[in-house]
Amino acid sequence: PPRPLVDAFGRTVTYLRLSVTDRCDLRCAYCMAEDMVFLPKRDLLSLEELETVALAFIRRGVRKIRITGGEPLHRRGLMGLIENLGRTLRPAERECGLDELTLTTNATRLAEVAGDLAARGVRRINVSLDTLRPERFRAITRRGDLDRVMAGLAAADRAGLAVKINTVALRGVNEDEIDALLAWCGTRGYDLTFIETMPLGDTGTDRIDQYLPLTEVQARLKRHWTLSESAHRTGGPARYWDCRETGTRLGFITPLTHNFCEGCNRVRLTCTGMLYLCLGQDDSLDLRAVLRDGGGAAALDEALDRAMTKKPKGHDFIIDRTSRAPAVSRHMSTTGG
Ligand code: GTP
Ligand code: 5AD
Ligand code: SF4
Repeated sequence: PPRPLVDAFGRTVTYLRLSVTDRCDLRCAYCMAEDMVFLPKRDLLSLEELETVALAFIRRGVRKIRITGGEPLHRRGLMGLIENLGRTLRPAERECGLDELTLTTNATRLAEVAGDLAARGVRRINVSLDTLRPERFRAITRRGDLDRVMAGLAAADRAGLAVKINTVALRGVNEDEIDALLAWCGTRGYDLTFIETMPLGDTGTDRIDQYLPLTEVQARLKRHWTLSESAHRTGGPARYWDCRETGTRLGFITPLTHNFCEGCNRVRLTCTGMLYLCLGQDDSLDLRAVLRDGGGAAALDEALDRAMTKKPKGHDFIIDRTSRAPAVSRHMSTTGG
């Protein structure tokens, strides 16, 4: 059996978020600055290197890999990586291998590749979408075309991919669409998760004024919908409720109002090979250096053990008016959400 990755607080890492690019075709105002400077391509791990690291994690008991970005579907050659990782999806009797290979995407390129993803073992995807109104979509993303996202979702439906929508709840921006989003997801058969905006990276916008605690969102939704706590667990941070009227699930990711770090099971690899042990802290280990040092599988394995000793207890995000600076200087698009 695999020797598990256990940190100093007794938490076992079974979930790897693998960022394949820091680039994105959108510039969501809470995520990126308008004038983002992206990493030079030469700093990126090759697809082979990304695969090598992913396989090292799988040998150590990782069961779930989520491909992220930036926008992952813009990384050239991605389907080859997905195909190879898809081969490690395990039949029940195998000790090592993935239970789930999945992706978080903005769906602007999904129409072209939904069928290819399904053919390579992806069963379920998370799509980031904060509004159903075209002009508002353009305003939030600073450049997006909602029609392309809708075409991507239609292609996902045709390919048989299950969809979860991720919506960052923003005061004064999309709070008036909370019910409409749930209703729409219900008609499409999609689960929906709301996320609290987190203070990551300078975006040139004011997150404090837009911060909307999900305790408030939940209370509002309960006026119109019958919600009961769900036993559903994905291994991610969301807590789920079953919605009687829609028959779909409603999730809440609440880093600010309800810290979930105690049950953390995940680490993040950036597209340059930095392994971050927490979304909201700077603790990291440079796996690119380890890969390129020529120590092979043993060196990588030893580095993973070393990384586990660095995993912090949790983030200390706060959103208040005295500290307007972001908690960490990295953008979400660098760490991969
Ligand atoms: P499921 O497998 O569907 O549960 O997905 P997931 O929630 O694990 O992944 P997804 O990409 O949908 O994550 C949604 C968002 O949750 C991320 O982009 C982050 O904003 C947030 N998130 C995920 N993990 C963490 C975490 O460890 N800490 C914090 N603060 N936020 C997280
Ligand atoms: N706070 C919360 N969520 C964010 N995302 C991007 N930036 C932030 C932030 N500062 C979300 C995106 C996407 C996921 C990858 O992270 O909307 O759903
Ligand atoms: Fe791109 Fe996702 Fe960031 Fe929006 S949230 S700019 S879609 S990486």
